[in-house]
Amino acid sequence: LVKSLGADKVIDYLKEDFTENSETYDVIYDAVGKLKYSKRKKSLSKSGHFLNVLTISGNIKLDVKDLLFLKELCATGKLRTVIDRIYPIEEIVEAHRYVDNGHKKGNVVITISHNDTLQ
Ligand SMILES: NC(=O)c1ccc[n+]([C@@H]2O[C@H](COP(=O)([O-])OP(=O)(O)OC[C@H]3O[C@@H](n4cnc5c(N)ncnc54)[C@H](OP(=O)(O)O)[C@@H]3O)[C@@H](O)[C@H]2O)c1
Repeated sequence: LVKSLGADKVIDYLKEDFTENSETYDVIYDAVGKLKYSKRKKSLSKSGHFLNVLTISGNIKLDVKDLLFLKELCATGKLRTVIDRIYPIEEIVEAHRYVDNGHKKGNVVITISHNDTLQ
């Protein structure tokens, strides 16, 4: 899956600890927020940057220009999204259970139809 999204090299975290292979990186983006500070430090190059999905906070404002840019990236195939499962709103408890197991691939979508009423 990761290779199909454009990665040149994939390291399976269950088989290899990438912080122990003495390679360094200019950018590390921790997309699941699990990498410890001590570990990330030794894998960053001198001027390297560490980004963490958990520390992206504050009021992120998306305006129409940003959304059109995202649309363009999707339309041209530069941004490929991965949808693992799609649940109707009636099955939202099941959807949460699935997400809570911590192994979803990409994202889980909840569909809401015009006829659905939220109580
Ligand atoms: N989704 C959002 O919109 C969003 C927004 C802001 C913040 N966050 C936060 O970002 C974190 C990640 O969320 P998520 O939506 O991606 O769901 P998630 O359930 O935390 O991530 C699941 C994915 O992470 C992989 N994974 C688990 N542990 C890993 C590790 N140690 N190293 C590398 N990959 C690992 C799993 O692969 P395997 O199945 O192979 O184990 C699976 O593909 C969460 O803490 C969440 O609260 C999410």
